[in-house]
Amino acid sequence: MKERMQTIKKLIDEAIDKRLQNDNPLIEALYKSAAYSAAGGKRIRAIYIMLAGDLFDVPQEKLINPACAIELVHAASLIMDDLPYMDDSQLRRGKPANHVVFGQDVALLASIGLLSEGMQVVLDDAQLNSDERLQIGSVLSSSFGFNGLAAGQFVDLKLKDKHVDFDIIKFINQKKTAALFLASGQIAAIIGHADEAQAKAIKDFSEDIGFAFQIVDDMLDVMGEEKVVGKTVAQDKMNFVKLVGMDQAKKYLDEYHQRAEKALEIFGGKADGLKEFSQYLIERVR
Ligand code: IPE
Ligand code: IPE
Ligand code: MG
Ligand code: MG
Repeated sequence: MKERMQTIKKLIDEAIDKRLQNDNPLIEALYKSAAYSAAGGKRIRAIYIMLAGDLFDVPQEKLINPACAIELVHAASLIMDDLPYMDDSQLRRGKPANHVVFGQDVALLASIGLLSEGMQVVLDDAQLNSDERLQIGSVLSSSFGFNGLAAGQFVDLKLKDKHVDFDIIKFINQKKTAALFLASGQIAAIIGHADEAQAKAIKDFSEDIGFAFQIVDDMLDVMGEEKVVGKTVAQDKMNFVKLVGMDQAKKYLDEYHQRAEKALEIFGGKADGLKEFSQYLIERVR
């Protein structure tokens, strides 16, 4: 399983690298900035799409472009998230943040370019028919808009220090993080022609595991070391773990993790890969 994840990661790294080639010297620095942030990372969302495809025996080739697309959107979100007027983080994926290297102006444009490229990758994907492109395009674009990342980031930045409660932090984690997991699951479900019950199971798993993943990230903000985590740890920022306390957070993590795995029951043994994947996601704090 670890091997399979490594193989997927390599495939995605190469495909993204190829996609971000540019031959126009005028915009060389813009592409460099985009490629800088599109490189690296654990490729969790891509791996999730590919493993969810296994539930429906989808051939791997059909999933590579959508998996790249979600990683491009994710990379765009990380550039934005680190900007001085957002989280003001200097370190990402073990390297200086995009704006530290390329400047805030270029970073913002690279982020927009990556969002657009993510959409383009699926809308141009010759492996998908036009109906699949339309459905996947819709799922992907809504994942980073007013019903996804933009909404979650907005509340994260603007509201939570004013009146924090459980429901607000839940909204933030669902929108800023679980939304991309949900899109990943839904994309696999679309390509795999999931029936209603299967689509619902994937939705439940995605939302719960996405939420659990953000709890892990919040735990690392509280107890992680920058050197190990590879990004600025935001010890002074409010988050789920600070709201409920570390012990409660661990209980919630178990609860969401167990619920996520339960949602996979209808897939029987075909979901073994995804179960291992969900285990891997929470392992960093075990
Ligand atoms: C970081 O996500 C942002 C969050 C939603 C917590 P990852 O931990 O998946 O980041 P990379 O892609 O591996 O760098
Ligand atoms: C996670 O936000 C969601 C996005 C990056 C869009 P965080 O601010 O919690 O993530 P990290 O810890 O900087 O990766
Ligand atoms: Mg943030
Ligand atoms: Mg951040």
